[in-house]
Amino acid sequence: MSEGLGRQIQGKIYRAGLFGRQPVVPVEPEVLADAAHRMLSAEAWAYVAGGAGQHRTVAANTDAFGRYRINPRMLVDVSDRDTSVELLGHTLANPLLLAPIGVLEMAHPDADHAVAEAASRTGVPMVISTQASVPMEETAQALGSTPRLFQLYWSSNEDVVASFVKRAEAIGASAVVVTLDTHVLGWRTRDLDLGYLPFGRGEGIAQYTSDPVFRALAESRPPSNEPTPRPTVAAVKSLVSIARHYPGSLRDNLRSPVPRAAVETFLDVFSRSDLTWDDLARLRTMTSLPIFVKGLQHPDDARLALDHGVNGIVVSNHGGRQVDNAIASIDALPGIVEVVAGRVPVLFDSGIRSGADVFVALALGADAVLLGRPYVYGLALAGAEGVQAVLEHIAAELDLTMALAGVKSIAEITRDTLV
Ligand SMILES: Cc1cc2nc3c(=O)[nH]c(=O)nc-3n(C[C@H](O)[C@H](O)[C@H](O)COP(=O)(O)O)c2cc1C
Repeated sequence: MSEGLGRQIQGKIYRAGLFGRQPVVPVEPEVLADAAHRMLSAEAWAYVAGGAGQHRTVAANTDAFGRYRINPRMLVDVSDRDTSVELLGHTLANPLLLAPIGVLEMAHPDADHAVAEAASRTGVPMVISTQASVPMEETAQALGSTPRLFQLYWSSNEDVVASFVKRAEAIGASAVVVTLDTHVLGWRTRDLDLGYLPFGRGEGIAQYTSDPVFRALAESRPPSNEPTPRPTVAAVKSLVSIARHYPGSLRDNLRSPVPRAAVETFLDVFSRSDLTWDDLARLRTMTSLPIFVKGLQHPDDARLALDHGVNGIVVSNHGGRQVDNAIASIDALPGIVEVVAGRVPVLFDSGIRSGADVFVALALGADAVLLGRPYVYGLALAGAEGVQAVLEHIAAELDLTMALAGVKSIAEITRDTLV
């Protein structure tokens, strides 16, 4: 009889407990978030945990899981369980991916390097963010042979888009995941109250500052007409941060206008709000990679996505960071799954906190799920080990939930397993 990952991880934790050692990365989701809260600066906590408006959708994303109940079956031989799934030609040991999360340096200096390290230790694919803290080529190196996807924010400069997509191909991405729900930033009340936007300080723009097309744009930008800010401590800190984040020596960067021009250029070209479904055809001409769209919540959008030939859908509301009072993402899943009817993979995120949540999302028709904030909390607490621990805890609980619900494989996690 195979032990299964659930019992393995459980056993490891209980054995350490015999020697008085408790997990550095808490297992209970709320305790994990609280522990990370204590580690993070006020700005980082606001940016990572916060969302849009009154945080109703942030809360709804997790609360809504409480309405879907698993109905366990007994005396089923579940001694051999298989948690693997097929996605984009890869066999994944678990139906899990690491969601694209920007500005990871706010949680830990090792940022994307650490997440990639945890991905390579666990085999969980990483969706590399356009707003990463580390150039995608470095992240890819740390990933080794672990699958990676590239998440794209569609810049208003199409040469930048084409360059990003070519780089994604060169690092062996299995797909481009175009995020559609963030063509402007949502009304993020906590960040606004702190006056905090990481990109303004040069954080989270490493894909741009490492990009030859973007750099040419920044270098040719006419000098800013904006008055130089009064040299307050905060202003000096921001200027140093901008200089520190630009490639090259800090000394040279502090003297050069280019790092500041790069931030301004980024703010100009980050996104555009005039894209429509027909524009996807243009992306298609830029790459032969499969194209996934991320951020769908409406069944009619799933229909349009299929009509326009997408290769996969990520049901997501960006963790409630964009539209407050929006539908909980898990409530949007069944309608989209019905429309898609198995024609392309449907991934899910926004609200996954535990293995039982993964089970519910799979039962409602997701092929795999993206884990978001919890891994950032693990990163904040213990770097690569912290991310690995969070992934293991979730995979372990999924395995045990399957065992206790009476299912042996992911394919057996159907709507019938829910009340
Ligand atoms: C701090 C933070 C940064 C994020 N950055 C990105 C990003 O760069 N690109 C993207 O497509 N989604 C981004 N997301 C959204 C995640 O990919 C994912 O949709 C979300 O975290 C899911 O919600 P949950 O973490 O509450 O489960 C970000 C989310 C957070 C919390």
